[in-house]
Amino acid sequence: MKQTILEAKGLCKSFANNGLQNHVLDHVDIEIYEGDFTVIMGSSGSGKSTLLYCLSGMDHVTSGSVKYRGAELTRLREKEMAVYRQREFGFVFQQVHLVSNLTLFENVVVPGFLNKEKRTEQIRERACDLLAQVNVTEAKDRLPAQVSGGEAQRAAIARALIGEPGLLFADEPTGALNRKNTEDVLALLTAFHVGGQSILMVTHDIHVALRAGRILYLDDGVIRGELTLPPFAEDEIKSREKQISAWLSSMDW
Ligand SMILES: Nc1ncnc2c1ncn2[C@@H]1O[C@H](COP(=O)(O)OP(=O)(O)OP(=O)(O)O)[C@@H](O)[C@H]1O
Ligand SMILES: [Mg+2]
Repeated sequence: MKQTILEAKGLCKSFANNGLQNHVLDHVDIEIYEGDFTVIMGSSGSGKSTLLYCLSGMDHVTSGSVKYRGAELTRLREKEMAVYRQREFGFVFQQVHLVSNLTLFENVVVPGFLNKEKRTEQIRERACDLLAQVNVTEAKDRLPAQVSGGEAQRAAIARALIGEPGLLFADEPTGALNRKNTEDVLALLTAFHVGGQSILMVTHDIHVALRAGRILYLDDGVIRGELTLPPFAEDEIKSREKQISAWLSSMDW
């Protein structure tokens, strides 16, 4: 029996635009399980990023509840939520937000220091390990402007994992990468998932969604359906892609 790590009930999010309310999320109920690699798919503008931000406490919900390991996040004040995010969550975005005047190594290590339970030496060691796992050891002492887009994104993944987050959120993490770098990043996420990392990723791309064990389909702010898949295997990519494609067609994708 899988443990729920994140749960939203009746989640609504509206934005006011020129005096009119734009209802982006419309009573979303969602459950994410510990150890899963879950993907949220949907067309552009369907509300995927908004949902991710509301689930991770990066944005306020209009109404509804979000619980992480049983704790109600929507009741936390801004400061409490910031501490919670640092301690429990990791984030990877389409655009790499590394600090430009810090090396890749420093970018990874600095958020690790926010975790006061760990000693400096332990954090430095973990940063080196992670940078090796994401294959940027050689570039680790360079500034973000001096490395490739793929290296920068791989370092951003290392940074997101330095605090050993309970849940890693990823919003189109390969959206700005070429095919080779996309494959590398996806392989890395899969490897971390196999190692036990819970991941919630948003994408509109079937090829990127392939490695997930569960796909939720968001359409116009409503979860329309979900697909559960067997563990990912490299030699079954074609049939998996077909299965996802057929399922998406049934959702009027
Ligand atoms: N801060 C904001 N203020 C007003 N409207 C917003 C805001 N953020 C998002 N929206 C609107 O909410 C809707 C959903 O946006 P969102 O970014 O969540 O879509 P998405 O599914 O992530 O799209 P994409 O695949 O293009 O990234 C869009 O109509 C967008 O214009
Ligand atoms: Mg988006």
